[in-house]
Amino acid sequence: AENKPLKGRKILVTAGGTKERLDPVRYMTNDSSGKMGFAIAEAAKEMGAEVTVVYGATTVEPPQGVELISIESANDMLNAVLSKLPQMDIVIKAAAVADYRAEEISPHKIKKTDERLTITFVKNIDILQTIGKQKTHQFVVGFAAETENLEAHAISKLKSKNCDLVVANDVTQTGAGFGTDTNIIRIYDRSGLVVALPLMDKKAAAKHLLTLIAERTAAPGSD
Ligand code: PMT
Repeated sequence: AENKPLKGRKILVTAGGTKERLDPVRYMTNDSSGKMGFAIAEAAKEMGAEVTVVYGATTVEPPQGVELISIESANDMLNAVLSKLPQMDIVIKAAAVADYRAEEISPHKIKKTDERLTITFVKNIDILQTIGKQKTHQFVVGFAAETENLEAHAISKLKSKNCDLVVANDVTQTGAGFGTDTNIIRIYDRSGLVVALPLMDKKAAAKHLLTLIAERTAAPGSD
């Protein structure tokens, strides 16, 4: 399987940002475009995998030839991911999931008054951490979007969320992170840095990541 190193492998990728609703016409979201997750999905398909993409708010079209599940909130993403988890071999969480949601979603459009507006936010369930606890045989890859102490934060996320790999991007670097067509990623495992890639297209970065995953999940004696 020289050019199809992920042949027959079932891969779940999350992409885009979640929307956390405040009222029927307003919500809180983030700058994720979906490009990173979609690039991983596209590359995985080309490498022979059966791909499912759970995606939220994006600025680009999702790839073709993959199973697409569109969601709005972090809770929707949690439910979609958990329902698919048992049949998956590999899970890659490139989505930017909101850490908080409004405690109450107003059923009507919030009215402007002369007072200050206070909205209470409560913590969302961490999807990656939940997968880390529930996984049986799945190889799980998290992302870490950082603005400082990249390595320390990435390794702490890897351990607390029980991931096999973490892909860290310093989102303060030009050409890296949210919205761009390129990224600068560092991949970590439990023992530390595996590889530091230079600036490249998200698709090229995705291929490097997937090649590493293919190596680390290859059945003994295959190839
Ligand atoms: O979509 P693009 O515009 O291409 O941008 C790509 C990206 C910057 C969004 C991507 O490369 C990236 O870094 N994705 C993760 C963004 C993020 O939310 O990172 P985090 O450090 O806050 O979260 C760490 C990990 O936990 C992520 O895998 C995230 O999906 C997961 N998480 C976070 C919160 C939560 N409630 N559930 C989760 O599963």
